[in-house]
Amino acid sequence: YSLQQYNTFGLDIEAKQFVSIENEDDLIQALQQVYASEILILGGGSNMLLTENLEKTVLHVNLKGKKIIRETENEVFVEVCAGENWHEFVLWCIQHNYGGIENLALIPGNVGTSPIQNIGAYGVELKDTFVECEAIHIQSLEHRVFTKAECEFGYRNSIFKNKVKGQYIITKVTFALTKNKHKLKTSYGAILSKLDEKNIANPTIKDVAEAVISIRQEKLPNPAELGNSGSFFKNPIISKDLFSAIQEKFPEIPSYKIDEDSIKIPAGWLIEETGYKGFRKGDAGVHKKQALVLVNYGNATGEEILALAEEIQHAVKEKFGISLETEVNIIS
Ligand code: EPU
Repeated sequence: YSLQQYNTFGLDIEAKQFVSIENEDDLIQALQQVYASEILILGGGSNMLLTENLEKTVLHVNLKGKKIIRETENEVFVEVCAGENWHEFVLWCIQHNYGGIENLALIPGNVGTSPIQNIGAYGVELKDTFVECEAIHIQSLEHRVFTKAECEFGYRNSIFKNKVKGQYIITKVTFALTKNKHKLKTSYGAILSKLDEKNIANPTIKDVAEAVISIRQEKLPNPAELGNSGSFFKNPIISKDLFSAIQEKFPEIPSYKIDEDSIKIPAGWLIEETGYKGFRKGDAGVHKKQALVLVNYGNATGEEILALAEEIQHAVKEKFGISLETEVNIIS
């Protein structure tokens, strides 16, 4: 069964079996029939690099629906099924004037996988509006609710990438959104300049979403046109000492202070400095406008993209002494 249309890199990888999960009964039934070790859970396929054919059963999580479970004067709690497309959910919120996730417009993928890596962009992270999620344990089939604290969210990180990695399937996520008195986050430079361009002094959540959409469209390739998985690497967090040493040689290095001892560096800058921006080897390449994004020009294999990623990691390590970690999950 070809997974080509189910991964945003557009890689033609075969899986042994493919099951579309339309409701929780389908899910329980599928989990009873297949060994846990032989399952690959697939949401939007937007954060994975498939490198070889899989002797596995793919469970494509297609659980749909959303409902308002509680409302207060200023907040609305919305429960969303895992298979809902993330960006469509953002648009729905904007249409209903529910605030909090407008900066996360146009992020590929589904609602159910958004907590795993705590998706984030333009000063907002999923965890800022996340309340809890419901999940099913792959082996015991038990239901479990994970509160926000239990998710142990961090930068592109959560318990689902660590302690309980591969053990649960998230079925629903609940968000707390604002109904009025929206707390807009427009401090990100590019958002402000977009709003200025349009002479918008008092932006609405829709204005912010539109600004984000236009920034993303300028920099990030549309997976429907050019295969990719967004940022391929995480922005590394390094010690102040290493940063000072690098800054002596490269005074223009951009940075964001995390705390007294640690500093985050844009991986895109490191990659650009090593000369890889716009680089192409066969059909595997580094995006011309954003060096953090690896792309498939058509017929690259997962192995070729992985080889390019490793080459970049090596070059960055040689030049700066920094190890880049992948943000995308490598499936082999
Ligand atoms: N930069 C370069 N060259 C490049 C790319 C970036 O020098 O080719 C430097 C520039 O100094 C630029 C800075 O990096 O000012 C930041 O670039 P950008 O605003 O594009 O953000 P990023 O740090 O590269 C992160 C997220 C993105 C998210 C943006 C906006 C990670 C791994 N990536 O990228 O997330 O959209 O910030 O908030 O944290 C994703 O996860 O798939 C993703 C696209």
